[in-house]
Amino acid sequence: MVEDRGQFSSKLGFILAAAGSAVGLGNLVAFPVMASKNGGAAFLIVYLFFIAFICYPVMIAEISMGRRSQRNPVGAFSDLSGGSFAWKIVGMLAILTPFMIAVFYTVITVWLVVYLKELLSGGLESLSQEATFGQLVAEPSLFFYLIFLLVIVFAILLGGVKGGIERLARVLMPTLAVMLLLLTAFVLTLDGASAGISYYLVPDFSKMSLTTVNGALSQAFFSLSLGMGILITYGSYFSREDNIPQSTRMVTIADTSVAFFAGLLILPAIFAFDPNTNTDDLSTSSVGLIFSFLPKIFLSMQVAVGYTGASIVAVIFFTLVFFAALTSLVSIVEIPISCWIDEFKISRKKAVLVQAGLLSLFAIPAVMSLGMSDFFTNFTSYGGVTKSFFDLVSDVFYETILPLVGFTVCIFCAYRWKMSGLTSEIVVGDPDFEGSLLQKYMNFSLGTIIPVVLLVVFISTVYTIYL
Ligand code: PFF
Repeated sequence: MVEDRGQFSSKLGFILAAAGSAVGLGNLVAFPVMASKNGGAAFLIVYLFFIAFICYPVMIAEISMGRRSQRNPVGAFSDLSGGSFAWKIVGMLAILTPFMIAVFYTVITVWLVVYLKELLSGGLESLSQEATFGQLVAEPSLFFYLIFLLVIVFAILLGGVKGGIERLARVLMPTLAVMLLLLTAFVLTLDGASAGISYYLVPDFSKMSLTTVNGALSQAFFSLSLGMGILITYGSYFSREDNIPQSTRMVTIADTSVAFFAGLLILPAIFAFDPNTNTDDLSTSSVGLIFSFLPKIFLSMQVAVGYTGASIVAVIFFTLVFFAALTSLVSIVEIPISCWIDEFKISRKKAVLVQAGLLSLFAIPAVMSLGMSDFFTNFTSYGGVTKSFFDLVSDVFYETILPLVGFTVCIFCAYRWKMSGLTSEIVVGDPDFEGSLLQKYMNFSLGTIIPVVLLVVFISTVYTIYL
């Protein structure tokens, strides 16, 4: 079945595809909000520290596991451990996680499609009203958009690694970068934008707390798509001639730059149009922010650029977010697909069909979780709050489990595959790694401080959400 696995055509193809996965709602919305609520530049400094010292080594480890084993996460954990059943179970967690993340991410992307359609038909005014989001997400017509989106996603995945995933990223990533830069430049020219810039870029260390530090790490981890099995799988499509640390660095820089520019876009926009903005009111939930808060910001731009102008800006921004979401969604759905191909020795076509069926099966109740069905809307309750099926999937697989998967990757690499195994893979394509400062740092930290920090983040998240 080797011919079914596929490979990226070049290092650039890998970098664009991995950046396509990494750049998502986390960069465009969650990062700017977190930065503004937690001391602006002070948050940025802590964030960059975690990116460099925690996330970068974990990312290298995940990609190396994939490239050495030429397998999906289940196969990678099992092969590299010499067939250990316990490690195979850990690998299954690294498949279940992206499988379930795909479920709720599909729903969010469907909402983006609906918003784009509304904006294109002149509905900016109605989208900026509080009640509209609740109404739109409870409409049965959502199923139509769900089918539309699933057809696009699975058609891309049917195209394979090179013809589907990489081709999509090659078109969308540069487009996304240009749109983001143009939109940021436009917003920065508006009167009042400077209040937002200074709010974002002048460090305020008094706003930093332990919770902030915890939040910065979770955000960094999430933003780079770590702990989702994605980089293990993408690593398995990465050529053995190429340099892993260098490519990882490029992906990290691309992802962090998008987050930084999104901050430069959103914060000045908020302040330019509502100088009395109280940042404590900004929800940290990226979902809430995109769907209820941002249309208001765009609408307030009509004073400067008219209703049509404001609608055009909103359309460009939502298209940007949709592109980012689509490349992330494709990357995450690929993980179970690669598992079906490798483990059940079936063709890509069959694996794509199986996954389309499974994803639809779970996406339907998730779509119905926001008012369409009472049962799924009030599905369960924990932490003293009633939760929908959508909330449950998002809380468990998105908010909580990623640092745990990251923890298992570190423990696996340090104590089972061993640093010697990891190093022997990294030096393929990067002979200078042997003896480098990076190697020394990874040797020291991958089995010690990094997993400990990840475990602490995991436990504190469990404590906050469920207890
Ligand atoms: N790195 C993505 C982000 O920052 O939004 C996280 C992500 C979410 C990746 C969902 C993939 C995905 F399906």
